[in-house]
Amino acid sequence: MKLDWSHTVINIKDSEKILDFYTNTLSFKISDRGPIIENGPEIIFMSQDPNEHHQLAFVVSREEVGTQTSLNHISFRVGTFDELKKVKERLDSINHDYLPLCHGNALSFYFSDPEQNGIEVFTDTPWDVDQPQGVPWDPDLDEQSALEWVEQAFIDEPGFVKREKSIKEFVNRK
Ligand SMILES: [Fe+2]
Repeated sequence: MKLDWSHTVINIKDSEKILDFYTNTLSFKISDRGPIIENGPEIIFMSQDPNEHHQLAFVVSREEVGTQTSLNHISFRVGTFDELKKVKERLDSINHDYLPLCHGNALSFYFSDPEQNGIEVFTDTPWDVDQPQGVPWDPDLDEQSALEWVEQAFIDEPGFVKREKSIKEFVNRK
C-alpha cells in the first residue's frame, strides 16, 4: 500500500483574514466554496495544483482563536531558492514574523497564518542528514552563500550525505 498525500483541512474563525493571507501572501487559488451541509458552516477549498481539487480546505467553524492550535505545522516545498526568497519578500512586505531554520536537508521559513496555524515553506538542499536538526540561518544570504553555509554547518553531523545516496538507501529499506 502507498498513501499519496492529498490535502489538509483546518477549522478557522475569520475567513476574510485567512483568505487574504493564503491567496495574496501564499498564492493559493480558491477552487470552490459553499456550505458543507444546508445551513452548515462554509468550506473553502484552495489549491495551487491543477491535479488536486484542494490541497487545503478551511471550515469556518472555529469558535475561539487562541495562541496555539493542535496543528503543529503544514509544510510546503518550493522548487528553487529564488521562490523561497519570494516568500520572504511577501512576508516582509506585510511585516509578518518568520523564523528562518535550516534542517540541513532543507532551508525553511516557519511562520503562522493569522489564526496561529503553523506553516513551513522550504526548499531542499543537495544533502541529507540524520534528523531532527534545526539551526537558524541568515535569510539575506544569496543561494551560493547559503548552500556553502549549510555544508559547513552540517558536514560533521551524523548521516550527512548527498541526497541521491540517501534516496537509494531509503528505497532499499525494508
Ligand atoms: Fe516541517
